[in-house]
Amino acid sequence: MTDSLSMSGQNRTTTGPGAALRLPTIIQGGMGVAVSNWRLARAVSTYGQMGVVSGTGIDTVLVRRLQDGDPGGHLRRAMASFPFPDIAKETLRRYFLPDGLPSGKPYARLPLPKIEGSALQRGITMLGNFTEVFLAKEGHDGPVGVNLLTKIQLPNLASLYGAMLAGVDYVLMGAGIPREIPQVLDQFAQHRPASIRADVIGGRRDAPVTFDFDPAEFDGASLAPLQRPAFLPIVSSHSLASMLLKKARGPIQGFVVEAPVAGGHNAPPRGGGALDERGQPVYGERDEVDMGVMRDLGVPFWLAGGVGAPDQVREALALGATGVQVGTAFAYCDESGLAPDLKRTVIAQALAGGAEVHTDPRASPTGYPFKVVTLPGSNSEEAEYLQRKRVCDLGYLREVYETPTGKLGFRCASEPVDAFVSKGGELAETVGRKCLCNALMANIGLPQVQKGGDVERPILTSGDDMDVIRRLLPPGRDSYTAAEVVDYLLGGVA
Ligand SMILES: Cc1cc2nc3c(=O)[nH]c(=O)nc-3n(C[C@H](O)[C@H](O)[C@H](O)COP(=O)(O)O)c2cc1C
Repeated sequence: MTDSLSMSGQNRTTTGPGAALRLPTIIQGGMGVAVSNWRLARAVSTYGQMGVVSGTGIDTVLVRRLQDGDPGGHLRRAMASFPFPDIAKETLRRYFLPDGLPSGKPYARLPLPKIEGSALQRGITMLGNFTEVFLAKEGHDGPVGVNLLTKIQLPNLASLYGAMLAGVDYVLMGAGIPREIPQVLDQFAQHRPASIRADVIGGRRDAPVTFDFDPAEFDGASLAPLQRPAFLPIVSSHSLASMLLKKARGPIQGFVVEAPVAGGHNAPPRGGGALDERGQPVYGERDEVDMGVMRDLGVPFWLAGGVGAPDQVREALALGATGVQVGTAFAYCDESGLAPDLKRTVIAQALAGGAEVHTDPRASPTGYPFKVVTLPGSNSEEAEYLQRKRVCDLGYLREVYETPTGKLGFRCASEPVDAFVSKGGELAETVGRKCLCNALMANIGLPQVQKGGDVERPILTSGDDMDVIRRLLPPGRDSYTAAEVVDYLLGGVA
């Protein structure tokens, strides 16, 4: 690959999988669930950098937005362009409520994801990703990416195909080792089937279990070939980047290198489970990334995590990075999907110098450390969380396990304890685990009303550097736009 333009602060281009690939200086990081929604991604991409939508859980987000009446008609506009109209029609028939859901009523749920699943389940996952990317790309020609978590394996194939049907330019995936994904993208560009190997706890089968997706099931083969998006794995170490470049199936166009101060899930520290006095994982020298190795890989890379200041952007470029990926600063801007009251509360906390983040090694059922903003009234508060009746009705973070009789099942360490243990899970695994699926829906103003009228509560995540919110706000202001974040970040770049 060759950079064709190296003006700092301006986007560069390089040869990519298809046409010339535009390399942004700023990537607005993917933030689930729908914190980086189409409005935020579109604002950033319209402003000349790269917006990224989150594809995680977007099928549930789609059907809840439809039940809220789809204000503005944006989803229905996007759905009208979906190449498989029967799926769009059936989704509307089942979930669209023109007058919205009466307050206090529970949202209708999608069936829990299953290995075989139904064509409609796969279809709604495709449709959710399609609509989000379609809307993010509307009205400009800047690049748009989609972010997915490698570890949430089951919906990933349908998600990728749906995003590609909408012409997604980049796919960014962390939380696991996405070795098989480049080949999946190659296959889907030609509407050919693809599979990924399922991680099965306690699996003893001779043949691997796979998740499969065939575009032919939806008549995909009748469509023109799709753009093969650039693939950027999100890694926390130079050794993983080197390994992926050598051993991934198919080509990789670059990396996002994420430090443990970044918001969301973090890679666990290498070599040991030591905790500091606040119970947070301790990172050391072994977790540091060798920039020399990254440069020598010869592909573009972006630094993520605590690079939300103009001098840090400048420093990243000086280290040889193509740019930076920023999350926290964008999470609290006007266009982000966070519920407005939560945004206002955290911004007020940050302005008062009191915003606090804790890296919780237990909260996420994925087993990865997860950063949690301390916020009274939210599920960051252990005592309050323990009042919540455990229920697993979204199921994205469940793991697949094999029963002693050789059957496959799903379990989540945040589901009801008895159920988890009866499925062979260890009791100790459930301690301190929280239901992120429901909390993340609550974060974006789409909380479920559970039996008995209990409304699911949020659990916010942010990077360690929450002071970025204060830095972005001049005296007298208490909100800011995505464009202002971009201007601020590029302010130190010539
Ligand atoms: C609210 C929030 C949600 C996030 N969710 C995801 C996610 O779903 N997938 C992902 O790969 N990264 C996620 N991230 C990480 C961001 O994409 C980005 O890499 C990170 O925020 C950069 O560090 P910073 O927070 O210091 O800016 C999230 C970050 C935040 C703040």
